[in-house]
Amino acid sequence: MPAPKPHKPPKGFAKNATVGSMAAYEKLYEQADRNPEAFWGKLAKQELHWFKPWKKTLDWKAPFAKWFVGGTTNMSYNCLDRHLTTARKNKAAIIWEGEPGDTETITYQELHRRVCRFANVLKKLGLRKGSRSIIYMPMIPELPVAMLACARLGITHSVVFGGFSAEALKTRIIDLDATVVITADGGWRRGKIVPLKATTDEAMAECPGVKHCIVARRTNNDIKMKKGRDHDWSALEAEVSDVCPAVELDSEHPLYVLYTSGTTGKPKGIVHTTGGYQLQANMSMKWVFDIKEEDTFWCAADIGWVTGHSYIVYGPLLVGTTTVMYEGAPAHPEPDRFWRIIDKYKVNILYTSPTAIRAFIRMGEQWPKKHDLSSLRLLGSVGEPINPAAWDWYHEFIGGGRCPIVDTWWQTETGSIMISPLPGATPLKPGSATFPLPGVAVDVVDMAGNSVPKGGEGYLVIRKPWPSMFRTLWGDKARFKKTYWSQIPGVYFVGDAARRDKDGYIWVLGRVDDVMNVSGHRLSTAELESALVKHKAVAEAAVIGKPHELTGQAVVAFVTLKQGQKTDDAMANALRDWVGVEIGKFARPEQIRFTDALPKTRSGKIMRRLLREIVTSDKVSGDITTLEDLSVINRLAGQQDEE
Ligand code: WTA
Repeated sequence: MPAPKPHKPPKGFAKNATVGSMAAYEKLYEQADRNPEAFWGKLAKQELHWFKPWKKTLDWKAPFAKWFVGGTTNMSYNCLDRHLTTARKNKAAIIWEGEPGDTETITYQELHRRVCRFANVLKKLGLRKGSRSIIYMPMIPELPVAMLACARLGITHSVVFGGFSAEALKTRIIDLDATVVITADGGWRRGKIVPLKATTDEAMAECPGVKHCIVARRTNNDIKMKKGRDHDWSALEAEVSDVCPAVELDSEHPLYVLYTSGTTGKPKGIVHTTGGYQLQANMSMKWVFDIKEEDTFWCAADIGWVTGHSYIVYGPLLVGTTTVMYEGAPAHPEPDRFWRIIDKYKVNILYTSPTAIRAFIRMGEQWPKKHDLSSLRLLGSVGEPINPAAWDWYHEFIGGGRCPIVDTWWQTETGSIMISPLPGATPLKPGSATFPLPGVAVDVVDMAGNSVPKGGEGYLVIRKPWPSMFRTLWGDKARFKKTYWSQIPGVYFVGDAARRDKDGYIWVLGRVDDVMNVSGHRLSTAELESALVKHKAVAEAAVIGKPHELTGQAVVAFVTLKQGQKTDDAMANALRDWVGVEIGKFARPEQIRFTDALPKTRSGKIMRRLLREIVTSDKVSGDITTLEDLSVINRLAGQQDEE
């Protein structure tokens, strides 16, 4: 069957776009490729405020990069202060909607005041440049306020997703050695209160390094406040002024650390710095989302993940757009919540995940049909490959057939979008993230680092440093080198496989390491396994991702219990809940399969490939000669899938 024709950008769209043709894209790409330093240097000067200019654009001692060396700047200044002398001063910076339906519109000027006031609160508690904060909050305006206040003073923040457990929160507080935790009494999710302060209390009980905990009021549930350590957000604010100049920070000052799953049990603290991150967050808003002054932009992610950092908070505010922020669950109180929000605020650009789209498909197109979605002009997708059926549905029922879809590939590590169509230029092939952005030297290679020919499959890599790249892993340079820079010589190994088709389009195929992608959330096999074996009944566990219609992948855990333990439903439920406690509810395995032994090589390595085959096909093929105990496979394969 011949491949369907690519979708060309609508004519009207191309006419007004930041990049309006493939020729224009290719020219930009070539310029950047020929002289990356000149390319990024020019943009950094033109797009951002610098207190002091840099002396050297790039200092690259592989794998360690520094961008705009010697330059000083401030993210909070670039997101706020510089807009206040323009027509943007009374423009909505954030339109917020809470799950119960309460709303707030915050202008740039008002946001500036709130950020300055909260920065003064942090200052008064003794925090300053170089301090570290943990932010564990619901999706309420205080969350970006806290981030921007930290950025204003040079306090490195780490936002922890509100779905994480006390145990996961504790690990992050300790690893970052944070002295302050900023949280809220609770947040709303599916009509219920998520008790964030209670979880924080549990975590802080084992974190003596935490000197202060600031608590915003959201749900007004009963909470405990420990005298001397815990403070009420508004009481502190009442004591300070709303004037607070932005601190001049080195371009390489660490803006934030965001923990993400890796191939071992310990989460990795991805470190992003200031100058380079700012630049690419800013440029991707213009190139990929084609931002216009009058746009209302909605990235429906959670700020607890990198997508929310770059495309709810920093990117949108850098370019002075209006960013929509929604607190709650997508189908609450009814499956049309998203479409209601788009209609109500006349959203122009929607950025969401394939998992969400597949869930909406299941709910039915009668829900979007109830609302006027004609304000939309552009759609985006992120987090996992988008299957063509979901692409088509999104295009037709949400985009009304008129909106281009930008399928954006990137990672926590890359800081900003790396591979994506440009909506006014790139002919779209549903399921392909298409081409790299200017300045991003993407390649598809074999294990030796050689480019595979067009039409071939291989590992996705990035060959040259880019401004928004992560600089290291917090406190672990050796792991940074080993995980990302040593697998394939001389390049950044992203951990995904990809195919480049005959037209040069890139198709990301998914992870090649032991990282799973469940509903767009990264989970590591090792992290889940170490959580399971901590349970007193468990002897051994092996976790794999199984293809799942709705969530992309689902977690299946093979568990061997200690002698005398019962392999019944009650135990399976207890183990699922246990993972909820150890990591977070979102990480609970969909299936627990009990087995009396796990398939292993002679050297004792669990053969996950075989387990994967068992759950997908119930049969095992290929080479199993290294297996220690063949009978294990037969027993596992004979088990009935519970679904
Ligand atoms: C996957 C999220 C295919 C990929 C921004 C990557 C994608 C991981 C896409 C990073 C896409 C993200 N197409 N796969 N458009 N976007 N991925 O760190 O496996 O949470 O390595 O960052 O998600 O996930 P992370």
